[in-house]
Amino acid sequence: MSSEETGYDRDASRDVTKLKPALAFLKPYGRQIVIATIALIFTATATLSIGQGMRLVIDQGLSQQSSEILTQTLMVFAGLVLILTAGTFVRFYYVSWIGERVSADLRQAVFDHLIRLHPGFFETNQPTEIQSRITTDTTLLQTVIGSSVSIALRNALMFVGGLVLLFITNVKLTVVVLACVPLVVVPIIVFGRRVRALSRSSQDTLAEVGSYAGESLRQIKVVQGFTHEARDSEAFRVRVDAAFSVAKKRIFQRSVLTAVVMLLVLGAIATMIWIGGQDVLLGRTSPGELAAFIFYAFIVAGSVGAISEVWADLQRAAGATERLMELLHSPSEISDSPDAIELAAPLRGRLRADNVTYAYPSRPDTLVLDDVSFGVEPGEMLAIVGPSGAGKSTLFDLLQRFYDPRIGAISIDGVDIRQLSLESLRGAIALVPQDASLFGISIRDNLRYGRTEASDEELAEALKSASADEFVRALGHAEKAGLSDAEALKRGLDIKLGEGGSGLSGGQRQRLAIARALVTKPGLLLLDEATSALDAESEAAIRDTVSALKGVCTVLVIAHRLSTVVEADRIAVLEAGRLQAIGSHEELLGSSELYARFARIQLSAASESEQWRNAVS
Ligand SMILES: Nc1ncnc2c1ncn2[C@@H]1O[C@H](COP(=O)(O)OP(=O)(O)O)[C@@H](O)[C@H]1O
Ligand SMILES: [Mg+2]
Repeated sequence: MSSEETGYDRDASRDVTKLKPALAFLKPYGRQIVIATIALIFTATATLSIGQGMRLVIDQGLSQQSSEILTQTLMVFAGLVLILTAGTFVRFYYVSWIGERVSADLRQAVFDHLIRLHPGFFETNQPTEIQSRITTDTTLLQTVIGSSVSIALRNALMFVGGLVLLFITNVKLTVVVLACVPLVVVPIIVFGRRVRALSRSSQDTLAEVGSYAGESLRQIKVVQGFTHEARDSEAFRVRVDAAFSVAKKRIFQRSVLTAVVMLLVLGAIATMIWIGGQDVLLGRTSPGELAAFIFYAFIVAGSVGAISEVWADLQRAAGATERLMELLHSPSEISDSPDAIELAAPLRGRLRADNVTYAYPSRPDTLVLDDVSFGVEPGEMLAIVGPSGAGKSTLFDLLQRFYDPRIGAISIDGVDIRQLSLESLRGAIALVPQDASLFGISIRDNLRYGRTEASDEELAEALKSASADEFVRALGHAEKAGLSDAEALKRGLDIKLGEGGSGLSGGQRQRLAIARALVTKPGLLLLDEATSALDAESEAAIRDTVSALKGVCTVLVIAHRLSTVVEADRIAVLEAGRLQAIGSHEELLGSSELYARFARIQLSAASESEQWRNAVS
C-alpha cells in the first residue's frame, strides 16, 4: 500500500513539539524519571572525569616512573569505572523501563479507544494500517522515550562538560579543534541524513513485500486453484527487487559515510596529536594533558554526532505521536447520549422502524435503505427475504446501532434506540452474522462470548438447540478415546480454534454461531442467513429451535429457504432498499409478485431435491 492510497503519511510531521501529547503518558512515572535523571547526570559526570583519571595515570604513574603512584591512580581510575558501570546500569534500566511502559500504555489506550469506535471508522481506515500504527508507531515512541531522549540529554551534558574541560585542559588546542569541527561534522550529518532517508524508504518497500506475501499465503487455495503461482512469483520478484535496489543505494551511502567518517576522524586525531605533540616536545603540555584532551575532543565530537542522530529519531517520533493522537482522539459517531437510558427489563421486544433511510458514507448517493417502515410485535417471528444486495444485512446493522439512519428512527419497546445506552441495547440483542465469524479461542470461550458466566450445562443446552452438540462431542471423542459422552462434550469445548474459527467447516461454524447467540438468551434474535451452509437435517433441527422461540423472544430472520420463511408469522420483502410488501405467506402470494416468484423458484428447487432424494434412495 502506498501512502497515497491510504492517506497514511509516514512523516506526518517533523515538528518535535508534536511530541508533547506523549509526555502526558510519562506523568504516572515521576519516580522512575527522577531516578533515571539522577543516574544520567551521574554517569555523564563520571564519564567526563575518566579523562582526568587518564591524565593522572599518565602524568603521575607513567611519567614519574613510580609503580606506587601508578597503582594508586589506577585504583582511583578503577573506582571511577565501577561507579560509572553501576550508574549506567541504573540509567539504562530505568530509561528503557519508562520507554517500554509508556509505549505499552499508549498501545492500550489506543486499543481501548478503537474497540469502542463506530464500525464505519474501519471502512475509511484500514484495520491493517491501524494495526501497524499500534505496533510500529508505538515502537518508535518506545525507542525515542526509552533511549533517544536519554541519549540526547546525556550527550548534551557531555557536550557542555567536555567543552568546558577542553578549554580547561588546553585553550590553544581547543580553538584549533573548534575551527575544524564543522569540517568533520557537516559531511557526517549530510551523509547520515541520506542514509536515514533511504533506510526509511527501505522499510516501506519491505513492508510491501511482507503484505504481498501475507495476502497470497492467506489465500493459498485461491492462488493455486487458479494456477496463479507463476504470476505471483513474478509480482513478488518485482517487489523484492524494488526493496533490494533501495537497499543497494542505502548501503552505498552507508559505505561512503563510514569511509568518510574514518578519514575525517583519524585525520583530525592526527592533526591534534601533531599540534599537541609539538607542545609536549617543547614541554608546554604534559603527555597526560594531551591524552585527556584527545579524550574530551572525542566526547564532544561524539556527542554532536549522537545528538544529530537522535534528532532525526525525535522528528520521526513526532510524526508517530501525531498519528497515534489522531487515532486516540478520533471521535466515535456512535456513542451513548449524555442522558442515555437503560432498556426496561424484562424486554418485551416490540420493534418499530419508521421511514428508515440509509446510505453508506463511501457511496452517499446510493440509498441502501429507502424509507423503510414496519413494526414487529413482542414474540413475533418476522422473516426478511429479498435478492442479495437488497439491504437486509444493513437493516440488521442499523437495528444494533452500528450505524444511525440518515432519516427516520428505530425504536425498541417504544424507545428510540439512540436514547438507549449501547450496552443495554446490544445486550438485549443477539446476532448470528452472515459470515459465521468465530475467534481463535476455545469453543467454550466462543460460546460464552456474549455471557461469560454461562455454565457448561447452559452451553450444552445451547449446542443441542443449535444441533451442534453432536459434532462437538465427536471432536472430544477424537481427542481422547473411551470418554463418556458428557466428558467428551467438555473435552470438545476445550478445543481451541484457529484464527477466525478455522479448523471447522462452514456449517459447523454456523451452528456454533447460533449456539453463541442462544446462550445470551436475547430478547431480540437476529439471524442473517444463519443456516445457509447447513445440510437439510441440521437446518430442519434449527428451524424447529427457532420456531420454538416464537412467543419467547422476537425473532428476525433473513432467509432464502421457503421452509424457514413459511415458519414466520409474517414476511417482509425487501428489494433495492425498499420494503416491497409485508404480510403472511398466503397474503404475499397474492399481493407481491416478487414474493410469488421467490416462492415458485424455491418450490421447484425443493421438488427437484425431493426427486433427487427419491432417485438415490
Ligand atoms: N460497508 C459498505 N460500504 C458501502 N456499501 C456497502 C457496504 N456494505 C454493503 N454495502 C452495499 O449496500 C447494499 C446492501 O448490502 P447488504 O445489506 O449487505 O445486502 P444484503 O444483506 O441484502 O445482501 C449492497 O449494494 C452493498 O454493496
Ligand atoms: Mg446480507
